[in-house]
Amino acid sequence: MKSIAFILPALAVASPVAQIVGPDGWANAPDPKQIQISSAKSSGNGCPQGTVSSTISPDKTVVTFGFDRFQTYIGPGYDPTAKTKNCQLHLDLKYPSGFQFAVVEATYHGYALLEKGVTGTFFSTYYFSQDAQATTTTQTSIQGGGIWEQGQVYTKADRIPTASYIWSPCGANGILNVNNRIALTSSNRTAIGEITDDDATIAFTQQLNIGWRNCK
Ligand SMILES: *[C@@H]1O[C@H](CO)[C@@H](O)[C@H](O)[C@H]1NC(C)=O
Repeated sequence: MKSIAFILPALAVASPVAQIVGPDGWANAPDPKQIQISSAKSSGNGCPQGTVSSTISPDKTVVTFGFDRFQTYIGPGYDPTAKTKNCQLHLDLKYPSGFQFAVVEATYHGYALLEKGVTGTFFSTYYFSQDAQATTTTQTSIQGGGIWEQGQVYTKADRIPTASYIWSPCGANGILNVNNRIALTSSNRTAIGEITDDDATIAFTQQLNIGWRNCK
């Protein structure tokens, strides 16, 4: 009988990084001690079908999404519904048996053009389907005006510590969801604003793996 417990979030543990070596020396061989991403999907009005690409690295620890339509607008002439968009990412994970401490590292790149009075905000909420109540949300806001009036690229980087216990000797599957939302607000009726998310890269950086049984 399998029983799985995931613990989230935010244990700020300053433990040293354990070096992970491939099982047979072949650089591209997925390490069975690593948390692996077996597939990735997305859903939401910011990422309609046909506008998203996703690529999983050969070692299955990194997934990169590209978005063509994750774009929001505010100001005279824009549809009021265009000021917020969301795109939820769903990562199917394969956990090794034992105790894992890993950091989810997520990096987002986009573009913002914000006149004075417009604020652009990017929210990311991370949760595992196994424990949907335990969520971690990060939020970055950009105030319009200054350099943002001409338009600039920006980067948002998140580090979410996670810990999990997998009692099944052959490991277990899990799902990490990342709900990303970009939104514009304005205190200036005549100002325009735009914020986009053009890509997302999500990586599992294993800090520690303690296995206590082998998979037979
Ligand atoms: C409102 O936006 C317009 C257009 O960018 C700008 O010229 C004006 O200074 C802004 N007003 C305020 C109060 O921020």
